[in-house]
Amino acid sequence: MRILSGIQPSGTIHIGNYFGMIKKMIEAQNDGELFAFIASYHALTSVKDKAALENNILEASINFLALGMDPEKSTFWVQSDVKEVLELYWILSNHTSMGLLERAHSYKDKTSRGIQANHGLFSYPVLMAADILIFDSNIVPVGKDQIQHVEMTRDIAISFNNIYGEIFTLPESKVDEVLQTVPGTDGAKMSKSYGNTIDMFNTAKIVKKQVMSIVTDSTPLEEPKAHDSCNVYKLCELFMSGDELLELQKRYATPNEGYGHFKLALLDKINEHFSPYKEKREYYLNHKDEVREILAAGAVKARKIAQAKMEIIRDAVGLNY
Ligand code: ADP
Ligand code: TRP
Repeated sequence: MRILSGIQPSGTIHIGNYFGMIKKMIEAQNDGELFAFIASYHALTSVKDKAALENNILEASINFLALGMDPEKSTFWVQSDVKEVLELYWILSNHTSMGLLERAHSYKDKTSRGIQANHGLFSYPVLMAADILIFDSNIVPVGKDQIQHVEMTRDIAISFNNIYGEIFTLPESKVDEVLQTVPGTDGAKMSKSYGNTIDMFNTAKIVKKQVMSIVTDSTPLEEPKAHDSCNVYKLCELFMSGDELLELQKRYATPNEGYGHFKLALLDKINEHFSPYKEKREYYLNHKDEVREILAAGAVKARKIAQAKMEIIRDAVGLNY
């Protein structure tokens, strides 16, 4: 079974990204053959600054390697190092109706938020279809906002297969239904666009400041506090065992312990959880050439598969005359 997913390179990552997506990708390495790439071509739809894009690609790669992406076990590369997807993107464009793209929620959301409506943004789902279909992917783990893109991939593949035969494997999206949205410091969804994140790889000082800024209610110190509606407790649930949570519940129920104490307990847990990854991340930050080598080797593995598939596709449509 082939599992494939792409991640847009965004420089900083927070614990919402980690529990919502990164951790699951890393764990998928035990479920099947994982293909994971940094979606650098896709990032061009929003990043229009050379230095920022270069930096983001390397940072995202380093973060994934530090958090457990195993390049021996999985195929891990940068999208733009396997240019074959662009050839398939063009071929698939001729099997993608305007109506299909016009119905894409993600495009409509982005343009309604003021992002410039250009052709790259509009045709983004076709490139995503090429990413998925060129590797004969069976399972595509995605967030809810990306399900429609996987459905579109199936539609495009079916329309192509109807003309040329069973060339493409139809992928299925895999969404974690039980995944809770990780709350930010203000209780809303944690998101870099809301400025309410806790950034696991930021400096100790900033992470502490972020944790201490978590919004809590105004129950006085001498009164017992409710844990189930508390943002600090909700974040603790991500890091603590069942026993530790029971212990914490008792502390909430006992007067004279305040939210400041619970925040410090959370901070300790966050630091404990991410410190092994921080060391690994430091290592890669100081050995960027090694990171580039890992990505280059991943691209070689991925390109071999993409090239073989493209030969079949070129032949099917009549380009191998
Ligand atoms: P942001 O909202 O900070 O811009 P992105 O949109 O770049 O984050 O999200 C990258 C990935 O992280 C997506 O797969 C998304 O589902 C996941 N993710 C982001 N924020 C959260 C959150 N608060 N809880 C759970 N998952 C999240
Ligand atoms: N569009 C995805 C996102 O924004 C990233 C992506 C690009 C992707 N190509 C993909 C995800 C192929 C899964 C499969 O999150």
